[in-house]
Amino acid sequence: MASLNELESFKALERHFITIKDMHMREMFEKDPDRAYKYFIKVGGIKLDYSKNRLNDETLKLLRLLAQECSLKEKIKAMYKGDKINNTEERAALHTALRNKSSFSIEVDGIDVMENVNAVLRRMEDFSRAIRIGDWLGYTNQIITDIVNIGIGGSDLGALMTCKALRNFGHPRLNMHFVSNVDGVQLQGVLESIHPETTLFIVASKTFSTQETLTNAFTARKWFLYHALDEKYIAKHFVAVSTNKQAVKAFGIDEKNMFEFWDWVGGRYSLWSAIGLAIMIYLGEENFSALLEGAYLMDRHFYCEDFENNLPIILALIGVWYINFFDAGSHIIAPYDQHLRYFPKFIQQLDMESNGKQVQKNGAKVQYDTAPVIWGDMGINAQHAFFQLLHQGTHLSPIDLIASLSKKGNLPGHHEILLSNVFAQAQAFMRGKTYDEVYKEMINNGMDKEKAEKLAPHKVFSGNRPSNIILLDEINPVNIGSLIALYEHKIFVQGVIWDINSFDQWGVELGKELAKNILAELKGQQEFNDYDSSTKHLIQIYKEFNSH
Ligand code: F6P
Repeated sequence: MASLNELESFKALERHFITIKDMHMREMFEKDPDRAYKYFIKVGGIKLDYSKNRLNDETLKLLRLLAQECSLKEKIKAMYKGDKINNTEERAALHTALRNKSSFSIEVDGIDVMENVNAVLRRMEDFSRAIRIGDWLGYTNQIITDIVNIGIGGSDLGALMTCKALRNFGHPRLNMHFVSNVDGVQLQGVLESIHPETTLFIVASKTFSTQETLTNAFTARKWFLYHALDEKYIAKHFVAVSTNKQAVKAFGIDEKNMFEFWDWVGGRYSLWSAIGLAIMIYLGEENFSALLEGAYLMDRHFYCEDFENNLPIILALIGVWYINFFDAGSHIIAPYDQHLRYFPKFIQQLDMESNGKQVQKNGAKVQYDTAPVIWGDMGINAQHAFFQLLHQGTHLSPIDLIASLSKKGNLPGHHEILLSNVFAQAQAFMRGKTYDEVYKEMINNGMDKEKAEKLAPHKVFSGNRPSNIILLDEINPVNIGSLIALYEHKIFVQGVIWDINSFDQWGVELGKELAKNILAELKGQQEFNDYDSSTKHLIQIYKEFNSH
């Protein structure tokens, strides 16, 4: 594919950008009050208001042309039918197959994957049911009360985020724990709060070679054996989720206690697979199935709907507009719902590990920006922390404000406060407050002219700062499934526009590789001399500090 910035539609967007870049959204709303209804879309239980963006019909038309010129339709089809679109690892990216609720088969290398997908789902269901109803007993015949998921990155964040998001649907007897950090403080804290007789450990690792996960798993195993005394009990308390049968066996977990998934499931796209075992145990088979249903709903919408009414495509193109034309280097995810507190973290991996790339699929260096820095936090708390920069700082930082419409479960009076803040923040980002407005307000409040003139510049809000408002009818498994799939597809579309491979992650390798020698050095097992002086110095400081 030609470089993005050489495409006709890209050049047209560059010309269009000059005409629109200084236009204020206030003006856009005044000229076209209908934009609130025009730039609004609803899919299942999810609504998006994208009217508070620096764009008009022409912008959207040109962005859609850009998507067409990048063969988006064909590329969506290629992903869904199992083509090996992850070209550097020669793998398909078939997370859509994991929630394929239709009866259509999907093939990889001429083999229908649906049979295996459904077989593993049935095994997960049997196992989850046994834990939930108390049929699965520990080594002293007690029912399981605590589940510890040991995994990191994609083998942690999806399950953690979903369990927290859907806490209201969780089994009241089950306490869920997630251990990802190799800093022993985390695991130790969990071990201090559980009992070996009533705990199930899920060792979740696609490769089953991840240092942090295996270290934590070995320590947990040792702790368990210290209490249980006999290796035969491991089978009652440890299960594995992986694509690597041999490594699981070598760890000491029996194959019948392993839940399989496949290399065509990317780590960060894997919560729909056996990596979601913790989710299924906690929520139950029916709710897990509803989660898949919600994702499937978004998958069908993404596949079938034209570009103009396609939620993930709209979100993706708006993102491209800011990144490649307005030079916005970051994007904020701000949920206004306590259930979604891990959502920014989850999207951070999903987006940045997928699209944080610097070469096109053919290896040529990109001539344009790719993924923004994704960051964020609970919106309501962030208003009292970093929103200052979003309102008055010098960077353009587009933001997704995410909330649920349903008051259900909230304490009286709380939900209205929450939602009024979502709407007010989006309004403030868009409108801002001019010098004249600020000045007049102060004079009307009795301030003297001289003081008002001094203070006014500090109280000006330039506005014209973009936001998307994403409203879920309520937080439930279907809507959470749709929301996650929405972002997955948004990220995919952006990867297509930038012509990058969204499904590999070579950038995480170098650090892992270098840590091997340094670890041997810190343990005093080996000495290497080819470090830069800073690394050498740091190693020396560590060794000296711990030598006495
Ligand atoms: O180091 C990055 C990474 O490979 C992620 O892509 C992945 O989700 C995570 O580590 C965990 O990998 P695994 O599931 O193989 O332990």
